[in-house]
Amino acid sequence: MPDSSEPSPAIDRNLGMELVRVTEAAALSSAPYMGRGDGKAGDGAAVAAMRAVLGTIRMSGTIVIGEGEKDDAPMLFNGEQVGTGDAPELDLAVDPVEGTRLLALGRDNAIAVIAAAPGGSMWKPGSSYYMDKLVGGSELKGVIDMSLSPTENLERAAEATGRPVEQLTVFVLEKPRHRELVAELRTAGARVSLHTDGDVMGAILAAYPGTGVDLLMGIGGTPEGVIAAVAVKALGGVMQGRLAPQLSEERSRLRSELDPDELRQILAADDLVRSDDAFFAATAITGSPFLEGVRYDRALGVSTESLVIRAGSGSVRHVRGIHRLDARHIFGRDARERVIEVVSD
Ligand code: FBP
Repeated sequence: MPDSSEPSPAIDRNLGMELVRVTEAAALSSAPYMGRGDGKAGDGAAVAAMRAVLGTIRMSGTIVIGEGEKDDAPMLFNGEQVGTGDAPELDLAVDPVEGTRLLALGRDNAIAVIAAAPGGSMWKPGSSYYMDKLVGGSELKGVIDMSLSPTENLERAAEATGRPVEQLTVFVLEKPRHRELVAELRTAGARVSLHTDGDVMGAILAAYPGTGVDLLMGIGGTPEGVIAAVAVKALGGVMQGRLAPQLSEERSRLRSELDPDELRQILAADDLVRSDDAFFAATAITGSPFLEGVRYDRALGVSTESLVIRAGSGSVRHVRGIHRLDARHIFGRDARERVIEVVSD
């Protein structure tokens, strides 16, 4: 007879379902700042909410990818310990507002995001701020490769998906550094979807079936690359990254820390997160066709939409939350007053 007091491995804890309360709190606290031109204030509110809810989760969490260093408090700094201090030991990567500018300008795709994996399993960006990224869905595994040109990758993706290049959509950050990339994609005939910010969402869209985005290409933040790797891995997609320093100080520090081979190395999602026991949660702050942003309704309260993904089981959940406007336990007094101010405007 099986011992019924032991939890079945099949129904063990899904930490993502707890982490989603962290991203909901961050989204709820920063949402009042949408379009108010002050991304920093929204970020500060999200950090405070994230930290408060993280403290309630049964875990010994170490922030390995945070907002800044210790002296920059109140940011969640690298090395900060969070959680109740009980097992399990986890590496955490957080971005309380991924797309600060998007929030400040009220544009689509600002999200609050967190990724967790067993302690020691997340790749640490060190002095690297920027990384070149290539992301696609599961059908592009073993098909696309960063060592090939964008055109070659498009041709291979077209063959693997049975669609002409003209029907493939590539998410690219709209940055001067991508002028050549965009020109090449256009010459090849692909559809290009340009976004000023938010390549974690871009990676999710590329890896998630049916979003209308087939690939993500180009250089974005290295921390965002590690966070995205958890989601892409859990979605069964393909992701590669390679350090791409853009700042001179970043370049010289990396040159002194790494040998040329390490600098050129192509990192797969499995290198960026060396465990399958990983969790990802994101809550939309501003809306998008994929996730509904925070909405206020006098009768209903405040609603959120989140994505919770577990790499181990491959489960993906869209979680819709309805929160009371006076839910002090979620966003704290100050934020509550701000929310009510906005609702009664
Ligand atoms: P934030 O989380 O700091 O708002 O980052 C937004 C973002 O657009 C990321 O999605 C992206 O990876 C990175 O910034 C790109 O950096 P930059 O704007 O410096 O090119």
